[in-house]
Amino acid sequence: MSNYQNTSVVLAKRPNGEIQDGDLALKTNDVRAINDGEILIKTLWLSLDPYMRPRMNDAQGYMDPVAIDGVMVGESVGRVVESKSNKYSVGDVVTCYSGWQEYYIAPEDEPMIYKVNPDGVPLQAYLGVAGMPGRTGYCGLTHVGQPKAGETVVVAAASGPVGTVVGQTAKQLGCRAVGIAGGPEKCRYVVEELGFDDCIDYKEGDLLSKLKAACPDGIDVYFENVGGDVTKAVAQLLNKGSRAPICGYVSAYNATDMAGVETPFHIFGALEHPPEHRFFLVTEWQEQHQETTKLLADRVKSGELKYSETVAEGLENAVEAFKGMLKGKNFGKQLVHIAD
Ligand SMILES: NC(=O)c1ccc[n+]([C@@H]2O[C@H](COP(=O)([O-])OP(=O)(O)OC[C@H]3O[C@@H](n4cnc5c(N)ncnc54)[C@H](OP(=O)(O)O)[C@@H]3O)[C@@H](O)[C@H]2O)c1
Repeated sequence: MSNYQNTSVVLAKRPNGEIQDGDLALKTNDVRAINDGEILIKTLWLSLDPYMRPRMNDAQGYMDPVAIDGVMVGESVGRVVESKSNKYSVGDVVTCYSGWQEYYIAPEDEPMIYKVNPDGVPLQAYLGVAGMPGRTGYCGLTHVGQPKAGETVVVAAASGPVGTVVGQTAKQLGCRAVGIAGGPEKCRYVVEELGFDDCIDYKEGDLLSKLKAACPDGIDVYFENVGGDVTKAVAQLLNKGSRAPICGYVSAYNATDMAGVETPFHIFGALEHPPEHRFFLVTEWQEQHQETTKLLADRVKSGELKYSETVAEGLENAVEAFKGMLKGKNFGKQLVHIAD
């Protein structure tokens, strides 16, 4: 046994719709001693991401469901506190899929562990715009959306880490970037701070006519983050030859009957001229992980790539923060701060 006590969040019960009290539970256990070839990582920052909600369901998606009593999946930034590995030393800072817990033992050859060199970039940014969500926005837009200068790019959840990178990348490529977000404060931020050309508050109503006004030449690339009514409005303004990278559709993640959800595939498929669309996973560009991370981190460092974050303090507040994020209570990347 080591000297450490671990606290984790486990899936006690599969939620039916929105997460209820008792679906997720805190658990403590002693941390075992590490074996040769292993490292012990102390979590500093935990990332909360929308994909975690579908992983709580008993349905096979592109990844296995979390097991009952299993630690919730998730990526974190942590520090190596014990090492019996030649690859990692005590003090190394890494990103890894530790799950929602304070300590994580990993074999040194685990593929999704990456050393982080902070170098002027806040550590937690490697979970946000310079991390998985940032790579998702950047790679999904450039490889699947393939925007050209002068085209109009629309993205919802525009103030979140994926949308933030999509819009700022679109601007950099010479496009018109139009965001959709929940509430006037987020919309103002997206235009004034992030530099989008326009941002529409979908909660205010009249989305279609406002989108029409914001996209006078129609929509060439719709980066799909949310689905539902937003997609239905966007679908009416898509130009011939448009592209729609399907990244996710968070509006449906709390659905009680996923099979009954009208997905973006249904909405686009019913159009006379559907956009070129496909679902993608950020891991399609895994071999470019380091290069894309560096590109985004350099933009964070230079101040060129802007972002915001919402921080919950301690694992005991992670569940409420996660529930809030699925309803847009977060403003920017939702994180849990666990240790310094
Ligand atoms: N394919 C991949 O590899 C991959 C990887 C990472 C993320 N993703 C997907 O990318 C999307 C964005 O992720 P993120 O981490 O950047 O999330 P995020 O923006 O930090 O959080 C989710 C946001 O979704 C918005 N939202 C919630 N319910 C909505 C509804 N009914 N209609 C419209 N908007 C709604 C809320 O923003 P507002 O307040 O603005 O509504 C909320 O803040 C998600 O769909 C996620 O699953 C996919």
